Amino acid sequence: MKKSKSIILISAALVVLTIAACSPKLYEPTSVNVSSDATMEQLKEGKSLYIANCNRCHSLFNPKRFSREEWTKNLNKMQPKAKISEMQKAAIYSYLTHNANRKK
Ligand code: HEC
Repeated sequence: MKKSKSIILISAALVVLTIAACSPKLYEPTSVNVSSDATMEQLKEGKSLYIANCNRCHSLFNPKRFSREEWTKNLNKMQPKAKISEMQKAAIYSYLTHNANRKK
């Protein structure tokens, strides 16, 4: 009885881990990410706009995956698809390019 219960628990934990591994790690903005060109509000707004507007056609990309130049190009290309305003695009851009751990 006890053994089968723990097997169920372990399987459930594995399922949760697999799901977590498949979705991109979207960082939560903190004071480290804030800079002269991005306030905490902009970063938080950018994150929720990114989640709300960018996973309809494909899954969300990790912010670290593209450089600033690449994000600029990608966002210009995706803006008409996602039907977002210039201001929304700017907020999403801020969020995507202010990850302190990014390589570039
Ligand atoms: C209406 C559907 C749609 C929406 C909404 C959408 N995309 Fe896309 N996205 C696509 C398609 C189709 C492709 C692949 C073909 C292409 O590159 O045009 C793509 C490709 C991409 C790529 C990959 C480019 C590469 O070089 O691999 C990125 C990054 C991206 N989208 C980001 C975004 C972001 C950020 C948003 C939100 C602002 C967004 N997308 C919203 C349809 C969409």
